[in-house]
Amino acid sequence: MVEATKVKLRPLYQWLDDRMGISALMNSALHEAVPEQGGWAYTLGSATLILIALQIVTGIFLTMMYVPSFHESYQSLHYLQTNDLFGAWVRGMHLWGSYTLMLVIGLHMIRTFMTASYKRPRELNWVSGALLFFVVLGLAITGAMLPGDQAAYWTMTVVTNIPHYIPFIGDYIRWLWRGGKFIGPITFTRTYGIHIWLLPPMLLGLIGLHLYLLRRHGEFGAWVNYDTEGPDPDREIAARIAKVEPPYPSRDVDPKFAAPNRTVDFFPNQVFKDTLVSLLLVAVVFVMALLMGAPLDGPANPATLTYVPTPEWFYLPLDQLLVLGPQTWLIAFVVFVIPGITATLFILLPFIDRSPERNPLRRAHIIVPGLFVIFMMVTLSVLGINRLYNL
Ligand code: HEM
Repeated sequence: MVEATKVKLRPLYQWLDDRMGISALMNSALHEAVPEQGGWAYTLGSATLILIALQIVTGIFLTMMYVPSFHESYQSLHYLQTNDLFGAWVRGMHLWGSYTLMLVIGLHMIRTFMTASYKRPRELNWVSGALLFFVVLGLAITGAMLPGDQAAYWTMTVVTNIPHYIPFIGDYIRWLWRGGKFIGPITFTRTYGIHIWLLPPMLLGLIGLHLYLLRRHGEFGAWVNYDTEGPDPDREIAARIAKVEPPYPSRDVDPKFAAPNRTVDFFPNQVFKDTLVSLLLVAVVFVMALLMGAPLDGPANPATLTYVPTPEWFYLPLDQLLVLGPQTWLIAFVVFVIPGITATLFILLPFIDRSPERNPLRRAHIIVPGLFVIFMMVTLSVLGINRLYNL
């Protein structure tokens, strides 16, 4: 029976293949060399990709029920939570998917930072990744403003007020986003537009660039893949380059880092690891969504005097910086200058750390400041954690 079906489908596949070149496409997508060692650490990028795909799918399902209006968004989500068979679950997946995504992107970033994968010729892999990180942050915060409940309303109030502290043009940007001096239906519509029309195309474009660069330069992996052990390193490196498969040897790089010691075929080796880790993470999102769902406060009430807004956990370091900073013009310094300088250094890292050295133990001048930033973010989060629970 199975054999008969295969025989019947073969001509159909051949017909499609002749017209679309499916086999050639699959071959070039699946069969290329990747470093043999450390493959589990390299699953974080593809896990990020799968989690983004999940966000897009759950987001599309949400738009089938959600009414993007200042006054009706809350009602529509309330209806979805209580009357739709899978509504609460899908909404939970969109929320827990975003949390897991932030966590996995963070780990992917730390991995590529520690292994110095951003060095030539992969500088733009890092820059496109850093921009992706900011787009994901933007999606997460604009998403948090959409449910139309108290939490969303007050998040919108606080976040759309942040541009106010930018000297000279800040008030204009706030006015532009809010559609006036105060929060209202226009603010809501603009935030929704940013969340579903502006940021997702930017995200997809940057992902395309990020993956194109990955295929062009090959996976760097880690310094362990490039160790030389014999008495004649130059000969060893030349032999390695002579027998390596595409996409190696990488261009415009110290020959030592042009081709890994040992490579395996992307399929099935790395594909197996990528699939396993991604499935596990998607399963975590499904279970968390089922068990915890997504919260929906009471409907937005601009007149309330008792509601204390809580920041999203991934914005806690920035929020805590605001709380600790004096409530004066210094806010501008705290809110913009410190994170602004950190963000610029972060994006430009490959152009700052230009030495060929890849081993983190010999890159203390970069690793120590990097760990300091991570330490500060964790410390600020711990200091502000009580506000997550309104304690
Ligand atoms: C939407 C977010 C992102 C997606 C979908 C994504 C996807 C990927 C994938 C699939 C890989 C190859 C597998 C791996 O090395 O893990 C990769 C590699 C890489 N990513 Fe990302 N990434 C994202 C964000 C970032 C961020 C935020 C950074 C850093 C700021 C970054 C920097 C890099 C670098 C430098 C490489 C090359 C690694 C190497 O060759 O060893 N990526 N990315």
